[in-house]
Amino acid sequence: MRAAPIFAIVSSGAVLGLGAALLFAQQQPRAAPDSRVLETRYEIGYPWWDASRGTPLPASKTFRDPSGQLRLLNTSGAVETDGHPFFTPLGSNGRACITCHQPTSAMSLSVDLIRPRWADTDGKDPLFAAIDGSNCPNLPQEKEESHSLLLERGLFRIALPWPPVTASGRPLKPDFRIEVVRDPTGCNKNPASISVYRRPRVAANLKYVALPTGVTLMADGREPNLQSQATTAAITHEQASAAPTPAQLKQIEDFERQLFMAQHSDAFAGLLGEPGGPPLLGADNLASGVAGAGPMPTAGSLAAAFDPWRNLNAPNLAILQRTFRSSVLRGVDLFASREFGLPDGKRGTCATCHRPGINRSIDIGTTNLPAAKESPELPLFRITCDASAPPHPQLGRTFLTQDPGRALITGKCADAGAILMQQFRGLTARAPYFANGSAAGLNELVDFYDRRFQIGLTDKEKQDLANFLSIL
Ligand code: HEC
Ligand code: HEC
Repeated sequence: MRAAPIFAIVSSGAVLGLGAALLFAQQQPRAAPDSRVLETRYEIGYPWWDASRGTPLPASKTFRDPSGQLRLLNTSGAVETDGHPFFTPLGSNGRACITCHQPTSAMSLSVDLIRPRWADTDGKDPLFAAIDGSNCPNLPQEKEESHSLLLERGLFRIALPWPPVTASGRPLKPDFRIEVVRDPTGCNKNPASISVYRRPRVAANLKYVALPTGVTLMADGREPNLQSQATTAAITHEQASAAPTPAQLKQIEDFERQLFMAQHSDAFAGLLGEPGGPPLLGADNLASGVAGAGPMPTAGSLAAAFDPWRNLNAPNLAILQRTFRSSVLRGVDLFASREFGLPDGKRGTCATCHRPGINRSIDIGTTNLPAAKESPELPLFRITCDASAPPHPQLGRTFLTQDPGRALITGKCADAGAILMQQFRGLTARAPYFANGSAAGLNELVDFYDRRFQIGLTDKEKQDLANFLSIL
């Protein structure tokens, strides 16, 4: 039976009976893996990729992740990493790009890789460098609590100039004032710089993300293209004294544009990118363009993309597989057609925002109060918009935020808390979610939406949505 080796992922570790496994499929949070999964994941998948490791990154490779397997695909063949600027430290702190964009974490960095890394290296890995791998560089670096935001929420410190400066170095005049209300890390004492704390975004599938038009990179859209992004990354995260050479920048961009990543198999759903299966799934369909030019096709085509799974009576499907796939199908339909009130006052669905051309930043309440998760460990800022400025569309002229997002770049009060959407691929391999890591798993992410937009999802519908997200 085709599905047998995949089910082995579940049954070998846990010895779940089929009944228990079905229960698991329907009720257990999928993206907040239990300790069993964490352990096996860390042992088996040789998870940590050290800078300067020197071994090639194969043309294709699958890695275990909490819901099955993730596949990485280098369309230009195996990558020689020895001396490659993505894999080699470019600055003084021993980090390379790969340090924070790890293959087993879908080219981001999940908290379940960060924690064992601290334990294994006694906090000495360059990952924990004082500059942004600690809550603030002036804290005692040997103490775990000085790195709590990275260890607990997977967040790095991002320090941005205030007021914002344009690409040509000219200061912008913001149309709002920003005051520090709470500074638990002690890193917001300098009024000319604002420190916020953010998750690494995915350094794969960038062919579809880094587009020449519009604002497409970083939570606040501040980098215009992959080469400027890599330059800033080398200077800030790697503490390089000079920009990488043009040849190195080209090598980094070329690598990023040919690298694709998606879920490959699911412990319950089975193989994902199979021939004749839903064209949206799997790294190969993404690389070949069959999946469409982006993380999500349009709403109509999204539902249609799962037609190959709609014949659930296919004779070769195991019960577990059928149950899980029908949950995913309900999740797809919910994602594409369940309407609720959007921030702009109109009605729409998840797919209204999450469509091809993800270059959209909007405040959905992940960082602005009152919707944002209560987080005393994060800084809190008060935004006061000038009387003459267009107010924030949902919050008026005075409100609190943990991260002003896009407004730190544009200087516009109306942009405060607007975060640029991320791609949706390889989600289970890279928890926690949202730019500030406020959703620990996919179930918590769905809960957030349900509460924030009063969608009225039942527990079953929430699980259906989470199951759908888990197979991308
Ligand atoms: C210390 C960890 C760290 C290192 C080292 C690092 N990054 Fe990142 N990377 C991040 C974080 C954090 C973000 C998101 C920052 C934000 O949203 O403001 C990010 C974002 C990105 C993005 C944006 C993706 C998107 O969809 O917006 C790309 C591309 C990227 N990094 C590539 C690189 C490259 C290339 C290097 C090496 C030159 C590198 N990174 C080194 C942490 C790191
Ligand atoms: C009004 C626009 C909008 C709607 C509607 C919307 N989202 Fe989002 N979504 C966003 C934005 C903006 C972000 C980035 C927020 C952040 O990182 O703080 C995001 C991020 C995400 C992410 C990526 C998380 C990560 O860290 O990679 C997922 C998954 C997601 N949304 C799922 C959904 C689901 C499921 C629904 C429907 C219940 C939905 N979204 C509805 C705007 C929207």
